[in-house]
Formats: sequence, structure tokens, C-alpha cells
Amino acid sequence: MRFSETEPAMTQDELKQAVARDAIAHVVDDAWIGVGSGSTANFFIDELAKIRHRIKGAVASSVKTAERLKSHGIPVDELNNVGPLPVYVDGADEVTEHGAMIKGGGGALTREKIVAAASRKFVCIVDGSKLVDVLGKFPLPVEVIPMARSYVARELVRMGGQPELRQGFTTDNGNVILDVRNLKILDPVKLETEINQLAGVVTVGLFARRGADTILIGGENGVRRIDVRR
Ligand code: A5P
Repeated sequence: MRFSETEPAMTQDELKQAVARDAIAHVVDDAWIGVGSGSTANFFIDELAKIRHRIKGAVASSVKTAERLKSHGIPVDELNNVGPLPVYVDGADEVTEHGAMIKGGGGALTREKIVAAASRKFVCIVDGSKLVDVLGKFPLPVEVIPMARSYVARELVRMGGQPELRQGFTTDNGNVILDVRNLKILDPVKLETEINQLAGVVTVGLFARRGADTILIGGENGVRRIDVRR
């Protein structure tokens, strides 16, 4: 009899919690840690709280993450004061086995990319539904300076995408987000570079030039680990 027939399947939240727990093994003692945003990162923060005496504190990739860290009594400081960091832990909306990701579903992509860039190791924590062969089913978030919205949208259409303004949303940096559908992302590094170069784009939610170093994937049979070779 299969496992799934005797035991109820784990919920997506339970899978996220399992990878969050596993990620604690990557925390470096007596150091500052970079912490991402979103529901999986929130589970990680809850686990981090249990070992908060072992770390100096955290650098947050969003206002919401900073608030959650502080509510758990974890000291929060600016990247400018404590970077570079040994480790950054964050979720993703999609990730490939090569460590390329789509991020920004929660709109925190710019600060996430900054903290990731200033960290030596990126540990990506996801449930199995996020692992894909080709990126692009999840709409690609692009953070844009408000006055450049229409120009950038037209350029994204020229690239084959279907951009849509995220309604009623302003980023922590005071900008807007275009969610771009229909992009088949076969060369994530190239597309990241091209979109980054459009005037008015602050950040594209493709994390390929600096992808994940380790991916922890939560599934019914436990947490699978991929160490990405570069
Ligand atoms: C936040 O802006 C995102 O980059 C998140 O890392 C991503 O959306 C994953 O979020 P969940 O863990 O909530 O799926």
C-alpha cells in the first residue's frame, strides 16, 4: 500500500514548514543572516526565532519581514551596517534545478535581489510545486518607476510578453509592478540582462545571474537538497 493511501497528504503549508525547519542547518552562528519575504520565509522566521540566541540578528528584504523578525525578538539591522552576509534564505515563485528563479510574487523583489547579491550563499526554500524545467508559467514581476510604466510595458510586449499592472500595489520603494505573462524563459540570464537594461526598470524578478546556491525542496518523502554547481 502506498504511503499516501494510509497517511493524509501533507498540506502546502506543512511542506513549506518542513523546508523552513531544514534551512536552519544553513544558519551561521554569531553572524547576521539575510531573510527573504513571503509565506515560506515567514515559516523560516518562526524557526529562526527558536535559535535567535545563536545569531547576531537579521537583515530583512521587506518591511513585512522586518516586522515579523522584530515581533519574535530577533534584532534587525540595515544591510549597510552589517553586510556582506554569509547566508541569505528566501522562497521563490519558480525555481529550476540550475538555481534560476522567478521571485517577486509578494512584490519584494528589489530588496530581495539586493540582499541576495550581498550574501555569499543563497539558500532557496520551496515546496515541490515551485520546481520547474522552464521558468515562465508564473507571471514575471518587474518593478518599474511609475513614470516609465507605459514605456516599459510596450517594450515588454515587443519582447513577446503580456504585461499587466499589479492593481492597487506599491512596492516598499514607492514603485509599481508589471506582471508579465506569456514569456517562455529559455535563457534566463539573457532575459534578465535585457529587461534590466530598459530605462525605468528598477528590478526584474528573474534571479539567474545570481541564482540559488542550494535549493531545499519540500515533498511528501522529505526535503530534497540540490547544491547548484557553477
Ligand atoms: C516575495 O516578493 C517573493 O519573491 C517570494 O519569495 C515568493 O513570492 C515566494 O513566496 P511564497 O513563499 O509565499 O510562495
